[in-house]
Amino acid sequence: MKRIVILLSGRGSNMQAIVERCAEEGWDARVVGVASNRPGAAGLAWAAARGIATAALDHREHASREAFDAELARVIGLWGPDLVVLAGFMRILGNDFVRRHEGRLLNIHPSLLPAFSGLHTHRRAIEAGCKAAGATVHFVTPELDHGPIVVQAVVPVLPGDDEQSLSDRVLVQEHRIYPLAVRWFVEGRLRTEAGVVTQLDGAPQLYLA
Ligand code: GRF
Repeated sequence: MKRIVILLSGRGSNMQAIVERCAEEGWDARVVGVASNRPGAAGLAWAAARGIATAALDHREHASREAFDAELARVIGLWGPDLVVLAGFMRILGNDFVRRHEGRLLNIHPSLLPAFSGLHTHRRAIEAGCKAAGATVHFVTPELDHGPIVVQAVVPVLPGDDEQSLSDRVLVQEHRIYPLAVRWFVEGRLRTEAGVVTQLDGAPQLYLA
């Protein structure tokens, strides 16, 4: 039974998708804890209501990024995670935290990486006149939004799209590919070589809306 810990900062719809697919599909895994840097995050309440252990660590109450990261690592370490999943966790994690969890730390980013790392991805894709946008699940490395890519989903950018309509379209795909990537990880179906991730069964690592 693999132990999954999820970190989030907000509503937690990706966490919900993972928890629900894990139960529906009977993975040999369990979400054992959900932690947030925002005590008021809606995702924490959702997890707690389902009997999942939660932890709220307000980053503003820590003297430095290093101090926050160290406390976060300590708290989630108590849950003994095999995998740490960033799901809308809006805090950059420092080198020490990333190195400590490297190879078992996943993130979802709402763009087709390596395009549009960082914030405001949908607005930037629209402003650049992109005809496609999407989401990427990747392993986390110390360089922000740059780790080995596990799976991507592509959606069209339609005439008249605004940030909201595009992000709604991408989010549907996030809920499709993130549980898939987590399942692959817990079932040992991923291999990373020279920064390239292969799905060992040959399952598609690209999804089209
Ligand atoms: C998602 O779009 C994710 O890609 C981004 O933040 C959003 C989080 O949404 N990093 P939710 O909290 O999972 O609903």
